[in-house]
Parts: sequence; structure tokens; C-alpha cells
Amino acid sequence: MNQMNVLFSSSKGTINPQIYGHFAEHIGGVFYDGLYVGENSKVENVRGFRKALVDSFKKLNPPVLRWPGGCFAETYDWRDGIGPRDKRPKRVNWWYSHDHRVESNAVGTHEFMDFCAQVGAKPYVAANMTSVSALHIRDWVEYCNFPAEETTLASERAANGALEPFDVRLWGIGNENWGGGGQMSAEMCAREYMRFSTVVNSLDKGHLKFIACGPNGHDVKWTHDFMHEWSSHAWHEAPLYGLSVHYYCGNAGDPVGFTEDEWYQQLFQASYMGKVLDDHRAAMMQYDPNMHIGLVVDEWGCWHKDGSGPSKGYNLFEQQSSMRDAVVAALTLNIFNDHCDSVVMANVAQLCNNLHSLYLAGGENFVETPNYFVFDMYKGHMGAKQLGISQTTPMLERAGFAPVNSVSASASQAADDSVLITLANLSIDTDKEISLKGVGGSLSGKATITVLQNDDPHAHNSFENPHMVASTSSERRFADGDSVVIPAASVVAIHIAR
Ligand code: AHR
Repeated sequence: MNQMNVLFSSSKGTINPQIYGHFAEHIGGVFYDGLYVGENSKVENVRGFRKALVDSFKKLNPPVLRWPGGCFAETYDWRDGIGPRDKRPKRVNWWYSHDHRVESNAVGTHEFMDFCAQVGAKPYVAANMTSVSALHIRDWVEYCNFPAEETTLASERAANGALEPFDVRLWGIGNENWGGGGQMSAEMCAREYMRFSTVVNSLDKGHLKFIACGPNGHDVKWTHDFMHEWSSHAWHEAPLYGLSVHYYCGNAGDPVGFTEDEWYQQLFQASYMGKVLDDHRAAMMQYDPNMHIGLVVDEWGCWHKDGSGPSKGYNLFEQQSSMRDAVVAALTLNIFNDHCDSVVMANVAQLCNNLHSLYLAGGENFVETPNYFVFDMYKGHMGAKQLGISQTTPMLERAGFAPVNSVSASASQAADDSVLITLANLSIDTDKEISLKGVGGSLSGKATITVLQNDDPHAHNSFENPHMVASTSSERRFADGDSVVIPAASVVAIHIAR
């Protein structure tokens, strides 16, 4: 029998709720006909936003939503998205050369803030550092955050319908500046970041939290060079809340037709996230030994080949998400929990009709993907105290990667003393029976066990078959040391109330 111990006296701290964050960019079908159908649509909506999605999303208690990009942010002019909707300009979207779609600007700052309010998420606005001025971004912050009537920009916001400030605290300064965001070196990016954040910070010292463009995946040199440049100057005028990391698990076969080997390839790539975080944090330690600056993984997920989603390629980067993607989400969130001393935010890319999405939608059709259920099963970790785990479950090996435990696990203890243990069985064909025991505390209590599983690991939800994959829950009395079966290729959440 496999043994798993939950270590009550070993904790890395509180799991920042922002780790369960999301991302929605103006790309392909994320907004238009995805999240946003317009007020005059036949599709039921709340001020233009798809009601079925709003109702589903708010059940996850989403802590934070990143917007408007991604790459889109680096050519975005916020002034295009305010004022009467019928007067807003149509613009060439950053992604135009990929899909020839133009940006209507029907969703702008006010609509985005309304969506955040509808679902209860904090806004995280990614500002353009590549193709507008620092003053332009400072103006956006002033427009969003100043009391009505105090400045002309704040009065303009009020005249556009929002008397109360939006109070946006989280501001990204730049996106992927090593690539689409201007092809900068790390040193140049740090200098630009300091220029922008100094100007913007002069407006509201102490309240704003800035996130700078960090590395592409495991590019630790970028982190070193950026941190070296930033820390050698007047950094207190250019504060840094977090360094963004983007890490996608690359192409590992067809999203719904992968082979067994590709199943494992994808999961090993996903597990590599742990090393990515460890190595960036180690590089930052040299410049930030007291760990004031967090890692912000504001884009993560699987990036499969295009065209597997319901729009058959019309929506750029839209892909189907199977049980494999759900297991990737589960093991990634377990990794983030276990790095809660360094990861202050993470945002899965992207919410709807795109990469590792929670939703697929078009016209009247709307489905929750397997990824959705993982976020639902894990939401109890938000704000809870992370607990250590020791386990005897066997290791998996694959050439080119460090060995990975066949059962990814994470545990936390909430303020009401309940314990949540989340598990992902990485084996495609072997169930695991595990005896669970508390060390320094007990796991006895009333357990709710939620399982996300399908006999076919390729299973996914489509418009034709929207409920192929869904979680199921059961309750039982749990005594310390009892065992639980974790089915092959599944995700399991055990919540024990005491
Ligand atoms: O998520 C899709 C794109 O991936 C984002 O716009 C960009 O930041 C990344 O390269």
C-alpha cells in the first residue's frame, strides 16, 4: 500500500489566492463571441457578457483576472476603449497578421471592470511598455483610480459612467519584452521598466503593485540580467512587486488523439514548472535575499496545435482540453501551492476559446472544460496554510527530465481547520491506493471526496457532448490512516472537515 503523510508542522506559508488567477486577452475568440456577446445578442447576457459563463466563473471565486494581453497589450491604446461604444475606433489587433481580425474595442476599460465586478475578481491590467509613452500609462492609472472631479481624467471616467474609481492596484508594465514586446535585452527591459514605473508610481506611491516582464520559460540569464540592472539603480523609485514568468508546455501530439508516450511527454513538461520556479527564485536571491519580490506566472498552460476547438481554427489558438490538460492543471497548481513562499500570482492562459481554457463558447453553445473542474476542486486552497507532504508513491522516469512522482499531491489547512488534499495520478493506466495519515495532526473527520476521471484519458467536453467529463463527489467518515483509491489519469480532491 502506498503511504502519504500530511505534515502539519511543516509549512511554507499561506497560499496566495492570486495563484488561482486567470487571463483574458483580446485575441481570437476569447472576448468576441466567447466572454462577450454584446447587449443585443440572442444569447443570454449581463451587460453584454455571456450569462452562463459569468454564472459558472463566479462559482470559482476567481481572485484576479489579467487583461488586455498578452501580446495585444503591446499595441493597445486604452483611449480606444472608452466612451460611447458606437464611436470607438476599429483597430488592427496585434494578432491581425495571424487571423486578419480587427479589434472593435467594444470591450474596453469600463466593460472589463464590469466583468471583474460581475464575477468578483480583482483586475490586473497589463500596460503597454513598447509602443506608447510612460505618461500615457500614468494617465490610464489616473483615469482608473482617482476620485471623480479631482482631475480631468477622473471626471472623464465619471462622465463615461463610473463615478467610483476602479481602484486597480495590479499593473503589469510590459509583456514578453524579450519577444513581441519590442525584442529587448534584459538590461534594456529593466531600464524601460524603471522609466515607466517611476513615472507611473509618482502618481500613487505605495498603493500600486507593478509586475515587470520576466523570463521566457527557463531563461535564468534573463532573470539575472534584469535583476542586476534593476537592483543597481534607484529601485525604491521603481518598485517591483513581481517578476512575470511565462511557461507553456509545448506541443505533445494531438490534443484529443495523443499517444501514451505523448501523455507522459506532456506531464513531464508540465512538471518542469517546479524547476523553472526554483531556478528563477535562486537567481533572484542574489539581489533580493529577503524575498520581497514575487514570481508572477501570468501565463501558463498547455499549448497544443491550432484548430482542435469548436471553431475549427477560426479562433486563434483555440484548442480542446482533455483529461490530460486537467491533470496538467492539477499538477501545476500543486506545484504553485508548494512554491507559495515565492509565487504570489499565477494566471492560466486563457479563460475562454484559447489555450488551456476553462470554457469553450460560440453562439448559444457553452461548455465547461475539464480544466474548469480542477479549479473548482482546488478553490479551497486559496488563502489556506500550505502543508508539507511525504509520500512513498513510485517515481516515473523519462529521458531528459528529472524523475517525477507518479502522484502529484498538495495539502493545505484552512482557517476553519479543515484540510484539503489535492492529488493527480500521472499514470495513464494504474490506479493508486494510498493510505493518508496526518503527522503532528489528525486527518480524521467528515470527508468529501471529489473525483475527476474518465476511463478514456482523451475524454473532453464538446458542444455535441458537453458533459463527457465532470467531477463527482461522495462523503464518508475518514479516520486517520484510511486509504483512498486515486484512479489512473485522474484528479482527486479530499476535503476533511473537523
Ligand atoms: O497566450 C497567448 C500569447 O502567448 C500571449 O499573447 C503572449 O504573451 C504569449 O506569447
